[in-house]
Amino acid sequence: MSGAAMAATLVASLEAEVAHFSARQGFAPTLAVVLVGSDPASAIYVRRKIAQCAKVGIRSIEHRFDATCTERVLLDIIADLNADPQVHGILVQLPLPAQIDSHKVLDAIDPAKDVDGFHPVNVGRLSSGTGGLLPCTPMGCMMLLESVVADFKGLQAVVIGKSNIVGKPVALLLLERECTVTVTHIHTRGLPDIARTADILVVAAGSPGLVRGDWVKPGAIVIDVGINRQVHDDGTVAILGDVAFEQVHHAGAITPVPGGVGPMTIACLLLNTVKAAKQQSPV
Ligand code: GUN
Repeated sequence: MSGAAMAATLVASLEAEVAHFSARQGFAPTLAVVLVGSDPASAIYVRRKIAQCAKVGIRSIEHRFDATCTERVLLDIIADLNADPQVHGILVQLPLPAQIDSHKVLDAIDPAKDVDGFHPVNVGRLSSGTGGLLPCTPMGCMMLLESVVADFKGLQAVVIGKSNIVGKPVALLLLERECTVTVTHIHTRGLPDIARTADILVVAAGSPGLVRGDWVKPGAIVIDVGINRQVHDDGTVAILGDVAFEQVHHAGAITPVPGGVGPMTIACLLLNTVKAAKQQSPV
């Protein structure tokens, strides 16, 4: 399953919508990105998000702070962005440095502008199935699955990983589609046996090559959310998924890394930004 191709189609389909919004409102849908510190992976993700925004006509504003930045500074910038009617989406790139309480910062974002879907109000709406802004990676996983699964009802879904960003929300979305969902993690006993029961296997464990070929049932649909950077001795960087892709010849479908879930996360961020902008604008 090519996430890159699906994301490109989605992004292209947003262009007209963004142009229409901008012409009618007199300003473009706008995403504010807050980046703290110099984590190389975060810097790459933020650069990609901003580049994709520009491609479809979404305005982006970047606020960068160095790693010693205080929580107060972040709370103040978020208050300003919340109050600015020409900012529709606010994204704080994670992880934040240790001196900052990430929950406190995310909780300060206006839920209507929470395009990452991390605010407790949006988390609550997801868990009760009552709308709100969905987190981008889980939304991207579901779109990829929907492209190959006709009917989710009663399928066995196994999620490996219990993070707030991916594991928990993707499990809720699968449950909403009436899958039988098992949430597992790195300490789960008998993980390979449980994985082998899956019709749908979503892996977000952050452990390169964790899922071996014999963990995958023939015909299963495998979504690999892992993005693991490996720096070789010669300084080159390889990006590896959580699934040993080359061992999985027997899946019904599988996402590659790179080019699978990653581009879908960014496409869904753009979708959320346009959705938030429309919801915040009259007519
Ligand atoms: N860090 C890793 N993934 C994400 C994400 O989806 N959003 C944000 N804000 N930070 C992240």
